[in-house]
Amino acid sequence: MGKTPFKVHAFVCTNNRHGESKSCADGDSQTIKDVLKKELKALGIWGAAARVSTSGCLGNCAHGPNVYLYPQMISFTECTPDDVPAIVAEIAKHARPESSDNS
Ligand code: FES
Repeated sequence: MGKTPFKVHAFVCTNNRHGESKSCADGDSQTIKDVLKKELKALGIWGAAARVSTSGCLGNCAHGPNVYLYPQMISFTECTPDDVPAIVAEIAKHARPESSDNS
């Protein structure tokens, strides 16, 4: 198996069940994804260092919106756009060039 090409790959669940049951899109998951991407680009750590992708259901719907950092295996639950700075700080910790965490 290959390794991820990114130091940090953030997956933001934007799954939408349209009210049939709770899903991350009930929160502001698309905004979280968009702001996260914008902030990483502004910090200059977008690209090989960090990437944000939309994800389908991550299996923790009751506590969404969910953001998952890979390969760090760090989950952020019940996220709002106000949580983006904390998520960015965690990503930056692992994505900075001086970081040796490239597992
Ligand atoms: S809908 Fe987002 S974790 Fe299931």
